[in-house]
Amino acid sequence: MDASFSRDFDLPDAAATARLGAALAPLLAVGDLILLRGDLGAGKTALARALIGAHLAAHGLSEDVPSPTFTLVQTYESPALLIAHVDLYRIENADELRELGLAEMLDEGAAIVEWPERAAAELARLASARLDIALALVPEGGRRARLTASGSWAARLEGLTI
Ligand SMILES: Nc1ncnc2c1ncn2[C@@H]1O[C@H](COP(=O)(O)OP(=O)(O)O)[C@@H](O)[C@H]1O
Ligand SMILES: [Mg+2]
Repeated sequence: MDASFSRDFDLPDAAATARLGAALAPLLAVGDLILLRGDLGAGKTALARALIGAHLAAHGLSEDVPSPTFTLVQTYESPALLIAHVDLYRIENADELRELGLAEMLDEGAAIVEWPERAAAELARLASARLDIALALVPEGGRRARLTASGSWAARLEGLTI
């Protein structure tokens, strides 16, 4: 595997998390898999919500972006892209992941996955351009995001500003 590249972003408040999501939105392409790691309350859904909202807004669309905790997946469609927002927190086995049809979704769109550690082996097998985002709480009250990627996402990360 080629060397990975990391960037850290300080996110002092929820607005900063939203800015990071909005900054990622124009970079998103078919075949992208964004993995969102971090404890409960770290801001995974907030980041996904901002990213999806900004993508839709860029196409003149507006939709609520609820947490997929109970539905496992929520999908969004713009003229450019299908986006699947997945939360694996409640997944019980790998078959459930197959039933979600994530591989097929990545053929025609992008996926953003919360709790990827629940199905790490299955996700690793998917053909995708992967961006790993780890969100951590910091004692002062904000969050820190570490974005790690190799391949095409590494180049996209280099130019990212929030
Ligand atoms: N950078 C930040 N600083 C402080 N609070 C934040 C930050 N980013 C998000 N939050 C808040 O954290 C809370 C939990 O976020 P959520 O996205 O539901 O977490 P998760 O999906 O990781 O469980 C939300 O109230 C959100 O507004
Ligand atoms: Mg969540």
